[in-house]
Amino acid sequence: MLVSTFSKNLFKSFRLTIPYRSFKTMPHQQQHMYDLQSDTSTAPTDEMFDIMKLASRGDDVFSEDTSVNNLESYVANLLGQEAALFCVSGCMTNQLGLRLLLTQPPHSVLCDARAHVYNYECGGIAYHSQASVSPVMPKNGHHLTVEDITSNLITDTLCSPVTKVVSLENTLNGTIMPLAEIKRIREFTNKNGLKLHLDGARLWNASQATGIPLHEYGQHFDTISVCLSKGVGAPIGSILAGSRENIQRARHLRKLMGGGWRQAGLLAAAAKYCIETVVPTMPETHRLAKELASSFEKLGMTLSMPCETNMVFIDTANVRLTVDDLHHALKAKNIIISSGSGTQARIVLHYQITQHVIDSVIQITTDLVEQRRLDPTPTRTVQNNTQNNSVYPTK
Ligand SMILES: Cc1ncc(COP(=O)(O)O)c(C=O)c1O
Repeated sequence: MLVSTFSKNLFKSFRLTIPYRSFKTMPHQQQHMYDLQSDTSTAPTDEMFDIMKLASRGDDVFSEDTSVNNLESYVANLLGQEAALFCVSGCMTNQLGLRLLLTQPPHSVLCDARAHVYNYECGGIAYHSQASVSPVMPKNGHHLTVEDITSNLITDTLCSPVTKVVSLENTLNGTIMPLAEIKRIREFTNKNGLKLHLDGARLWNASQATGIPLHEYGQHFDTISVCLSKGVGAPIGSILAGSRENIQRARHLRKLMGGGWRQAGLLAAAAKYCIETVVPTMPETHRLAKELASSFEKLGMTLSMPCETNMVFIDTANVRLTVDDLHHALKAKNIIISSGSGTQARIVLHYQITQHVIDSVIQITTDLVEQRRLDPTPTRTVQNNTQNNSVYPTK
């Protein structure tokens, strides 16, 4: 069980002490900025550096590093899979996973139109696997269903790139894909000879929010990618999990991509420490995100996505503010959100964003909205415009 009593207790003291103590000791920062642009922006702590010193120093290209091997079997087990491979990034683990499941072109991958594998991996599916993509916007606006997949499946073996793989993402923009739908999709893909990949960069958040253990999600997929450098807080790394045979092939392909790293034990040790100590703190991060989302709504903003985990998608048009207005007001108090002249923004929380930061964001935003209400003649017209600030950043 991931949320052990041990880690819960550890979390109590950890949450109170680590972020501030560690930040203060950072030599490169004069003043700490609270970065809410992404959950990739966690800073490694002193405790992580201490753990790194104790790591083994073997060569991971030859699977000879104990810390890496430990991390891989630990995460494979958590995900209900036979084996796992530690890699440098989520792009690499996604692309390796898809490459393994695809064989010979012509072929294609079906995924959500908002998926990271399709939008933000540099066209990697075309580059690495010579496959095209069928991006599908879910009819329910939330998550892909069997019906979405059925109506977009390519089966024509004469003129079209036949669908061979379905790729899901959970969470996607912070929203949780229901396990029941994953099971339906697995049944469908099994019946139709399709493989199933999961971009589970933030599967940790889904699991912590629902209480559903990781393996109950993980067991339904042929390959799963999970990120360690996002909400989990590790400095670097992602894991690809799957069958023993597939992971052995992935190790070969990782070397081909130039991703064979040598003494990676220090990173694996830090990552394992983060899984054990940071993942159990996610429910608190989700609580804070929901508090922020509901405060924004009370101020008159709208949410462009439901807040189900650690992401808050807002539209500021109703309160006659632009994202830039909010960005500048927050930046003056050392809090960073994305900038842009439009009205839609994504705000992301992680374990180093604590109650006092959220209180400050709410207070600063409340003051700004009030100011705009009293002076309803801003220098320029606020338009509902998503062109100038992408709500779906790459990280
Ligand atoms: C859902 C999702 N998948 C994959 C990735 C890729 O991870 P990385 O930046 O480690 O390549 C990201 C990055 O933010 C992501 O948000």
